[in-house]
Amino acid sequence: MKMKIGIIGAGRMAQAVGRLAAKAGHQVMMSNSRGPESILDLGEAIGCSVGSIDEAAAFGEVVFAAIPLQAYHAIPVEPLFGKVVLNPQNYFPHFGRISELERGIMTTAELLAQHLPQSRIVKVLNSILVEEVVPDARPAGAPDRRALPIAGDDKDAKEIVIRLLDQIGYDVVDAGPLAEGWRFERRKPVYCVPLNKSMLEQMLSTTTRATLMPEGHWHYHRGIRG
Ligand SMILES: NC(=O)c1ccc[n+]([C@@H]2O[C@H](COP(=O)([O-])OP(=O)(O)OC[C@H]3O[C@@H](n4cnc5c(N)ncnc54)[C@H](OP(=O)(O)O)[C@@H]3O)[C@@H](O)[C@H]2O)c1
Repeated sequence: MKMKIGIIGAGRMAQAVGRLAAKAGHQVMMSNSRGPESILDLGEAIGCSVGSIDEAAAFGEVVFAAIPLQAYHAIPVEPLFGKVVLNPQNYFPHFGRISELERGIMTTAELLAQHLPQSRIVKVLNSILVEEVVPDARPAGAPDRRALPIAGDDKDAKEIVIRLLDQIGYDVVDAGPLAEGWRFERRKPVYCVPLNKSMLEQMLSTTTRATLMPEGHWHYHRGIRG
């Protein structure tokens, strides 16, 4: 089923995912903080429409919130009531410390869910380097197809996201509710490592909260790339 996908953000993740979604036949609207006239050429290149942030939020049945985590207050609340909101945001403390995340009492996805209590948040697409999003996409059944982890509290929203990821080129492993999203946040073993479904399932299940990898560990764990 073709969907309307609103994208809040027009940076690197927004462009990569917007490109794949448009290629899969979805209607995409991209937005940024500087207004649609600043991204007219980008929209043309990607094959999507452009709008204000409120317009993209209102347009999407599914909305991809691809702006820095510390800017999450810029994500409009009311236009996203009841909608599936995809949350790729990772926490980089040097852009501003957030107490709940520092203390580990909340996942990054729960932080967004607190801001959007009436939306259906799915943590997704945070655990892949942006430069790999387009080149690593594969058709269903490809032997080297990559799997990405998701987390969310709404079963139907997760089904929608699983279908969408399949259409744009990825398998999915469900890591559980939003509260379990820490399993694939920064510095966890699976973070940004290219893995297939069985590798990802296995590694997610053995990850503990205490497991912390060195920054950039994905350079050394090549996963499905051997
Ligand atoms: N880069 C990666 O490898 C990667 C991987 C996984 C997940 N992510 C996550 O994906 C998200 C986007 O990352 P990115 O690499 O695409 O960043 P990016 O290239 O820097 O793009 C950021 C976008 O956010 C917009 N923006 C910034 N502040 C804003 C605000 N206050 N209100 C509205 N829009 C704002 C910018 O719009 P303007 O042009 O108007 O400033 C820009 O379009 C981040 O949360 C990041 O953690 C990134």
